[in-house]
Amino acid sequence: MMFSSVLALLILLNLQPQIRAVEGLDLRAYDYTKYHTMDEISGWMQQMEKDYPEVVSSVIYGTTYEKRNITLLKIGLNSTELKKGIWMDCGIHGNEWISPAFCQYFIKQILSSYKTDPKMGEIFKNLDFYITPVLNRDGYTYSWKDNMTRQWRKNRSPGTGNCTCYGTDINRNFNVNWGTVGVSKLCCIGMYCGPSVLSELESRAVTEFLESNRNRILLFLTVHSFGQLILLPYGHSSVSVPNYEELMEVGQAAAKAIKSVHGMDYTVGAASDVMYQTSGSSRDFARLIGIPFVFTFELRDKGEFGFKLPEDQIQPTCEEAYQGALSIITTVHDKTFTSAAFTITATLWTTLTAACLSTATWV
Ligand SMILES: *[C@@H]1O[C@H](CO)[C@@H](O)[C@H](O)[C@H]1NC(C)=O
Ligand SMILES: *[C@@H]1O[C@H](CO)[C@@H](O)[C@H](O)[C@H]1NC(C)=O
Ligand SMILES: *[C@@H]1O[C@H](CO)[C@@H](O)[C@H](O)[C@H]1NC(C)=O
Ligand SMILES: *[C@@H]1O[C@H](CO)[C@@H](O)[C@H](O)[C@H]1NC(C)=O
Ligand SMILES: [Zn+2]
Repeated sequence: MMFSSVLALLILLNLQPQIRAVEGLDLRAYDYTKYHTMDEISGWMQQMEKDYPEVVSSVIYGTTYEKRNITLLKIGLNSTELKKGIWMDCGIHGNEWISPAFCQYFIKQILSSYKTDPKMGEIFKNLDFYITPVLNRDGYTYSWKDNMTRQWRKNRSPGTGNCTCYGTDINRNFNVNWGTVGVSKLCCIGMYCGPSVLSELESRAVTEFLESNRNRILLFLTVHSFGQLILLPYGHSSVSVPNYEELMEVGQAAAKAIKSVHGMDYTVGAASDVMYQTSGSSRDFARLIGIPFVFTFELRDKGEFGFKLPEDQIQPTCEEAYQGALSIITTVHDKTFTSAAFTITATLWTTLTAACLSTATWV
């Protein structure tokens, strides 16, 4: 589809974006079974910080092309020691609305259980969550304008050179095999990897955050839709990840936890095996810099509604994915804090990653 002509049409017809009022939004009655606009989600994030001041704080770690703050919620119990962390991001693709809905549900669940559920309390004591409910704020906002922009995936940075189309696929712009497979070099295409590696503000913001916290982050989980998949690195078929067996085991336990909720099947495997080959993804980058546990969730469904998953599926999708995420988080927590297994894994992995980085042949 030629987005430039769509844009021209929109301008000609003088279509106004439909913006829902945020004023008067009752956050105690915040509806987790509906999709929310960017403004509503921002308001909700501020409210979480106010409602749970002892465990929630916000961190602005970048800005978008349209000057929106890229903000995460840091969630955990205060500590005088530097804690280990868990990364989760949603909404790197603007059209995958179930993803931000999941991050909001996840945050609500952990906040409402850490005082009553001893395991969650232990996790809150030992770890901090770093959760970005909407990473691609510009693209998500644009996808809410009207039916014609509903499928917007990329961010909203303008094309360079002669190109008049907007947007780069942030999840193809990271510094890992950039521009090789599963991308387009044409800027009007949905999988456009950008004019150069890390050309985008969002991928740079994530990269800087991860690099400066690489020794503390135990788990990187990035949430997408659709396909019902739990993907492991790498997206590039010629490379296999050093702790593949371990990731498969943890991923399969998560799929089992998901299935136990509403019977849905999730397939587990390396992205290049069970989906298609990709390059420049945040998942692969996170693993390459040494974060030991790294997964992509592709939530419901398997294609019937695709990106336009109806609102009546938000709750069941979130309920099952929550159990999947919890399974992974609990395993990673227990490996780190209650046994010696992690030390061995981490050492092995550092050695192998170093070996991998020093072989320049596969990039
Ligand atoms: C956490 O502890 C620090 C220093 O002890 C204090 O300044 C800060 O206000 C505390 N934060 C919260 C959220 O309690
Ligand atoms: C971004 O955050 C800063 C610091 O909190 C704030 O002053 C500014 O208004 C925010 N910008 C937007 C567009 O919300
Ligand atoms: C989008 O399409 C639906 C169904 O065709 C219609 O009911 C709705 O009014 C449209 N909304 C906008 C903003 O165009
Ligand atoms: C860009 O447009 C100019 C002027 O029309 C043309 O000379 C040039 O070859 C174009 N560059 C590319 C890369 O297409
Ligand atoms: Zn996606």
